[in-house]
Amino acid sequence: MAVVCKVQDNARLAEQNPSVELKHDQFFNQLFEQEYSHLEQQGHTYLDYTGGGIYGASQLQKHFELLKQNTFGNPHSTNPTSQHATNLVKDTRKAIIEYFSAYDYYCIFTQNASSAIKIVGECYPFNEKSQLLLLADNHNSVNGLRSYCCNKGGTYEYTDLQEDLTINRLQLRTQLTQPNNTHQRLFAFPAQSNVSGVKHNLDWIPLAQREGWDVLLDAAAFVPTSPLDLSIIQPDFVSLSFYKMFGYPTGIGCLLVKKPKFDKLIKPWFAGGTVRLASVRTNRHFLADNHERFENGTVDYLSIPAVKIGLDFINQIGIERINSRIASLSEYLYCELQKIRHITGQSVVQMYGPENRKEVGGTITMNFYDALRKRYHFQSIEDQANKRSISIRSGCFCNPGIDETQQNIYTTELEDYFVSHQESSYQEIATQLGHVRGAVRISVGVATRKKDLDYFLDFVRLFKNKTQ
Ligand SMILES: Cc1ncc(COP(=O)(O)O)c(C=O)c1O
Repeated sequence: MAVVCKVQDNARLAEQNPSVELKHDQFFNQLFEQEYSHLEQQGHTYLDYTGGGIYGASQLQKHFELLKQNTFGNPHSTNPTSQHATNLVKDTRKAIIEYFSAYDYYCIFTQNASSAIKIVGECYPFNEKSQLLLLADNHNSVNGLRSYCCNKGGTYEYTDLQEDLTINRLQLRTQLTQPNNTHQRLFAFPAQSNVSGVKHNLDWIPLAQREGWDVLLDAAAFVPTSPLDLSIIQPDFVSLSFYKMFGYPTGIGCLLVKKPKFDKLIKPWFAGGTVRLASVRTNRHFLADNHERFENGTVDYLSIPAVKIGLDFINQIGIERINSRIASLSEYLYCELQKIRHITGQSVVQMYGPENRKEVGGTITMNFYDALRKRYHFQSIEDQANKRSISIRSGCFCNPGIDETQQNIYTTELEDYFVSHQESSYQEIATQLGHVRGAVRISVGVATRKKDLDYFLDFVRLFKNKTQ
């Protein structure tokens, strides 16, 4: 089924496509020299930015200087080293709120986007009447919310994707506007797909809210290359990981919670740092009345200041400049890939997603085909890229919905498979169902140069006119 390049059958047209001009080329080439030359020194061509960003040298330097020149203690005290840590954590929280214009939000530090989503799952007041609406394009960390909902007796449903991997708008509108008297309705979707790169329309958020839904926006794949202004679009909950934005530090994410929805999240337990007062002789405690309520134990106070350094780094470059750079990189890659064809005129790669790339970020997912139109297994492509030190990602990217849509797998097939197995893996189900599942994903970022894309394009050309 699916996909994309209509020009696929018109090789001559693709050949004639002029090359796309890369935006801000001089600026980003200079930035590479200053900040990312370690990639070149180590011989890497890194094309997995949706997996994780790459840090700039100055981010590390600034963070290590900060650690070397100061002494930090556990922030839960009033002693000087503790106060110092407390102040830097506070400054970082403020920088995050300013970066996203999230003035009406609490910023809760988490380990990553998944643990931010877990807070919502664990604390959202799901009950027997609750509805959870998910998008078939969700990452598994969002899909997992359905377990919390079902465990409380609620129900969930999915909005399908169309063949071009955009939202089935008619279906979503119908689902959002169905009458219901419950106040526990949660709609969770990604601002940008981690597989197709499709940026879903954020106007669904106010529409859903008007219909009584709370909205969780998974912004993990969106914020590394796009501006998010939470003074304009105001989901109730937003999840993200900072290493995806600027590579360092790993292990820190956040959940942004709209202030009026804060008390709607019911914390089912308490831990150190989350209470104002707790007692042992009575079964009583008073929870903290701000972000601390959800930050269990000690936050990662040595790494958190590196988030502010990362945000300053992005601010210096400018997220709008990054955004237009990424758009031109991905347009260049998309157009050049279309031109690589076997002697038969057939494309070497089949790319997934909409033909109109205007609302698609810096991620392109594809499969490789030989001259006889036989698909290569994604793993063999990754293996061959590995030998050339090209870092790409392959598989189903923790997003089974998009894989099932792309491969046109029926619900009944999947249901039968799950019912008849005690345990299984992604590989096993692919073999047994006879569908070649999975794909190859290329994603670009701030340190990507034309040279890197050309190196990857040369790699793709190696498959021209080859058979398996
Ligand atoms: C869209 C999206 N959501 C959530 C996640 C989970 O992020 P993390 O692994 O940092 O928790 C990812 C990770 O790739 C993602 O791409």
